[in-house]
Amino acid sequence: MQDAFDRLSAIAAKHGQSHLFQFWDQLSLSQRQSYLDQLETIDFDQIAKLFSGHEESIDWTSLANKAQSPDAIRLNDPNASFTAQQARECGEQAIKDGKVAMIMVAGGQGTRLGFDQPKGMFRIGPVSNRTLFAMHVDSLRGAMRKYGVSIPFCVMTSPATDIATREYFDSHRRLGLSAEELIIFCQGTMPAIDASSGKILMDSPSSIALSPDGHGGIVSALDRNGIFKAAADRGIEHFFYAQVDNPLVRACDPTLIGYHLLAKSQMTTQVVSKRFPTEKVGNVVSIDGRTHIIEYSDLPESAAISTNPDGSLRLWAGNIAVHILDLAFLIDASKNNSGLPFHRAHKAVPYVDSHGQSIKPASPNAIKFERFVFDLLPLAGKAIVVEGDPKEVFAPVKNADGAATDTPTTAKQAIVEQHKRWLEQSGIHVPDNVKVEINPYWALDVEEVQKKIQKLSNIMVDTYFA
Ligand code: UTP
Repeated sequence: MQDAFDRLSAIAAKHGQSHLFQFWDQLSLSQRQSYLDQLETIDFDQIAKLFSGHEESIDWTSLANKAQSPDAIRLNDPNASFTAQQARECGEQAIKDGKVAMIMVAGGQGTRLGFDQPKGMFRIGPVSNRTLFAMHVDSLRGAMRKYGVSIPFCVMTSPATDIATREYFDSHRRLGLSAEELIIFCQGTMPAIDASSGKILMDSPSSIALSPDGHGGIVSALDRNGIFKAAADRGIEHFFYAQVDNPLVRACDPTLIGYHLLAKSQMTTQVVSKRFPTEKVGNVVSIDGRTHIIEYSDLPESAAISTNPDGSLRLWAGNIAVHILDLAFLIDASKNNSGLPFHRAHKAVPYVDSHGQSIKPASPNAIKFERFVFDLLPLAGKAIVVEGDPKEVFAPVKNADGAATDTPTTAKQAIVEQHKRWLEQSGIHVPDNVKVEINPYWALDVEEVQKKIQKLSNIMVDTYFA
């Protein structure tokens, strides 16, 4: 331990971070060891570079002026090179051939929702009261059954969600997945720094204020946890990537996978047409021939509201964070560690001051660093954008009930409305005041509902089809 102490305290001193050892004398032996383990994970050079670059800012206005609508396969697009049917058949074949695995990012802290457990454990089934994790696994198991193949489910956690997520899957018999199908792995962390001095914040006398390194941390996390190798050994070539907080996502959507394959894309992004110009979604754009995402918070309003001569929105494509990623492309990206930039977020981060007092700042005092998965897009030689129908693919659970959008209530409504549509399209009338929910293991889409329809009569009470 003495060696590690000498080495780390010298590095900290060299970077003006000696305060990290100010409580050392008060720590027990075990606290000292776990504290040194935390310090080992910190790249002091990187933190110094990130802080010294903190005055650099991207000129979003000129970037937004250069931004064009991305070349996209639109909904019912008569000019698309491939039909949805061709794409679907191609995607189905790749799934049947065992070339596809699913990645679900579930390391976020869910601050806006105000739920103190991993978001995947949030109950969202409007009739079933199932959790987000259960809905996604049912959807994946539905695909496994339909295509007669086992599909790995790779769940990325963070230190904030890892233990609870593992316990949840353990105590729920992995929600029906086999031990080989469920792969839980933990993303990395980054220290929060004081915004004015660049000093690393401590959240107790024996720990650093660390937070997950963003969903873009997935590239190094997959590598570090041996998942690239395990996937290659299993013959996996493509990952279907989705976020835990979107219950409408169809696990391993074959049509999206098929477009990706037919276009020989390395990274494919599903988008929706923004409901209104300043909607809080990332804007998928094309700049100098590469696909980029400009966050809503970075897009100047003038660019957000600008229209084409026919009155349509110039930057119409909203990111819903559903991607297809090629394994080979991810491996290349991981070799270039500096490939994904860190974004800075000014946040109020609790810390201990030099007297060991806990301080809970009311306003942002700190900078947190996060990588975003969509920064992989401009690295792809070939990236395509495919439009989805928001009613069928996107109902995020971001905010607590009471907020105007993206709440548990709006997501539950979207699920009920989708399933009512499927039933109505199958000739089953559902009265307005009745809730319905379809477990994707029972039927994955409207075609599967129609196949089961002979057995159904009109529905008069809230009903869960499972
Ligand atoms: P969000 O950016 O919406 O963050 O994550 P969040 O943690 O869910 O919610 P807030 O911002 O604290 O309110 C989008 C998706 O990316 C995952 C989340 O779990 C979610 O599925 N994510 C986010 C990670 O896996 N790791 C991260 O470091 C950040």
